Amino acid sequence: MAAAILNYEPMVFPPKKGKTDRLTSIQEEILTLKKERNAVILAHNYQIDAIQQVADYVGDSLGLAYRAEAADADCIVFCGVHFMAETAKIVNPGKTVLLPDMAAGCSLSDSCPAEKLAAYKAANPDVYVVAYINCSAAVKALSDVICTSGNAVNIVNQIPPDREILFVPDQNLGQWVSKQSGRAMQLWPGSCYAHVLFTQQAIEKMRLTFPDAQVVAHPECVEAVRDNADEVCSTEKMVAFCRDSPADSFIVVTEPGMIHRLQREVPEKTFIAGPTDTCACNECRYMKMNTIEKLRDCLKDMRPHIEMDEAVRLQAYQPIKRMLEWSL
Ligand code: 13P
Ligand code: SF4
Repeated sequence: MAAAILNYEPMVFPPKKGKTDRLTSIQEEILTLKKERNAVILAHNYQIDAIQQVADYVGDSLGLAYRAEAADADCIVFCGVHFMAETAKIVNPGKTVLLPDMAAGCSLSDSCPAEKLAAYKAANPDVYVVAYINCSAAVKALSDVICTSGNAVNIVNQIPPDREILFVPDQNLGQWVSKQSGRAMQLWPGSCYAHVLFTQQAIEKMRLTFPDAQVVAHPECVEAVRDNADEVCSTEKMVAFCRDSPADSFIVVTEPGMIHRLQREVPEKTFIAGPTDTCACNECRYMKMNTIEKLRDCLKDMRPHIEMDEAVRLQAYQPIKRMLEWSL
């Protein structure tokens, strides 16, 4: 049946109820090193399952920012991408912040270089800059407030109505927030290389194969995908949506690492990876640069770690602090 409609096998994760994963020796080694280093491991929902299993906290960008700010261990090991580890250093500068692979970047962050934003602001000095957290510390330092996919609508709703808004760097999230809030915004022409690969056509084919499944999509997806989803939300909210929905199966239109988290939190349901036109799932090449070996090695060597100019850090902290206060 599936083969008649799809040109690849769908990636289906059946209920995990009752199954427990035993830790491997390398995972045990990580837990020992973690104790020795007095470290806390924070992992994004897109990390591989082996990393999520040894993390102290697994969540979305907003939850991770709060956890990083509150961390009282000597060292934060951030299993995510560079802008996330940088955010941890900005909110908690006294800690050593390790990132297992320093090359783990983000196409969205790259799409908004600080020099270009500075030039735009020089030409449009009155604009109020809302920056999605997927951007560099230098871009954050030029912004008025930061947001994540989990709080973006709430943040935009709190901006004085007479201010003209520039939303950077994700045009898709910005367009979704604009629709939800009814607030006109200029949109920076950036996008996530991975999320724009999901197409409405591929998801429709998957719906035909799994007619009872609900579609849950990340707001970084393009408009046609968002408009046809049953729910559009941050990765954290996907957990609550899938738990609370009466449906038993879900097509998860985001990075497939999310499904490990969903399987742990909602073990009685079935998850199907969101497809593209050519592939049954769609991994973020940057998130997948962190491996279990690199996690072990960074704890052993206490590097690579995030370093930042203090003046930039202090400036970048202001809009993050505003976001954390506005989101409470
Ligand atoms: P969340 O904050 O929803 O986890 O999104 C982060 C991200 O990078 C999505 O691509
Ligand atoms: Fe960046 Fe996209 Fe990867 Fe998220 S999924 S970290 S936005 S490249």
